[in-house]
Amino acid sequence: MLLDVGSRSGRYGIHIEPGLAARLSGLLDAAGVPKRRFLVSNLTVWRFHEPVFTGLTPEDPILLPDGERYKNLQTVGRIYDALIRAHADRASAIVAIGGGVLGDTAGFAAATYLRGVPVVQVPTTLLAQVDSAVGGKVGVNHAQGKNLIGAFHPPALVVVDPSLLATLPRREFRAGLYEVIKYGVIASRPLFDRVAASLPTLFKRDPDALMAIVTESCRIKASVVEADERETGVRRTLNLGHTAGHALEAVTKYRRFRHGEAVGYGMLVAAEIATARGSMPAADRAALAALIAKMGPLPAVADLPVADALEAITHDKKVVAGQLHYVLPKAIGESEVVADVTKDEIAAALKSIGMTSA
Ligand SMILES: NC(=O)c1ccc[n+]([C@@H]2O[C@H](COP(=O)([O-])OP(=O)(O)OC[C@H]3O[C@@H](n4cnc5c(N)ncnc54)[C@H](O)[C@@H]3O)[C@@H](O)[C@H]2O)c1
Ligand SMILES: [Zn+2]
Repeated sequence: MLLDVGSRSGRYGIHIEPGLAARLSGLLDAAGVPKRRFLVSNLTVWRFHEPVFTGLTPEDPILLPDGERYKNLQTVGRIYDALIRAHADRASAIVAIGGGVLGDTAGFAAATYLRGVPVVQVPTTLLAQVDSAVGGKVGVNHAQGKNLIGAFHPPALVVVDPSLLATLPRREFRAGLYEVIKYGVIASRPLFDRVAASLPTLFKRDPDALMAIVTESCRIKASVVEADERETGVRRTLNLGHTAGHALEAVTKYRRFRHGEAVGYGMLVAAEIATARGSMPAADRAALAALIAKMGPLPAVADLPVADALEAITHDKKVVAGQLHYVLPKAIGESEVVADVTKDEIAAALKSIGMTSA
């Protein structure tokens, strides 16, 4: 499967197929990726998957420590150091092999080294395969906040091999699946239904089942970012579940939830707001709640005050000129961005997921 994505710096392909990682070299050649190729990965991914990638390049792999706390400028500096030591020039490319943390960090290094060298994204988490590897956003965190430093640097190529997900811890896998459900809710009832119907197969990492949902998710993300690369309009719908989701992550200092889990709650909050104002059928909200419940228990929220989450929401960077743009589902498969959601509506919805209002 090949998806073709337009970006302001040219078109790039997203290849999706189980087993593709073993054929990476040919794909890089076919896409015209410069011949000096530097693999950037992390120690965890390398431990599982090194054999698939060795032989791809004579250059030593640049292996980073694993974890969101290393997604910072210091780690970017380590990539620059290795590139400079190896005399990497403009005819060099970075091949980023890992989850979203790795892809964002290596992508930012690629965006800035010598004012930009090509990056190939080889995502190895479900979240990265359906979300972070597509769209060209790269960047790192600052001590004062997540993703505060970044760039748009569309990849030269994205190579998605769903069979790499076999080694992913179950919790990470599930976290990515909430983002897949998100695509279903904002744009595709068939995708939503497919996830609901094939959960056990998906959790077994069946390559064909994965292929179907990863492809459909990438197609949706690609079409949205193509239409709106800089997130002024339709791209905002991709933030369904992220307003309350980010707030939950922030009030728990990013320690309690995997991002996707917080988005799971956030989608329930958005659906609650939408049904309460009569813009989404109750049956659709119930279908979403049922699927999220079927995925298994989410971390607790009963100890978290609604007021703290509301405070975090008003500080979200999605608040533009004092206006909060809230993405609400209209049905499973359709969503809208509205600017008139009140604090009271959000508070009621946060209460409905079990947060404390005392
Ligand atoms: N650029 C974007 O558009 C965009 C979009 C969404 C999220 N993000 C970013 O993505 C990051 C989260 O990414 P993530 O959820 O992939 O987390 P992650 O990159 O931290 O990966 C999760 C864990 O899985 C491990 N791992 C990766 N692949 C594996 C494999 N195949 N087998 C076993 N273990 C594996 C990783 O080493 C890590 O320990 C955040 O920093 C977020 O800001 C970026
Ligand atoms: Zn997300």
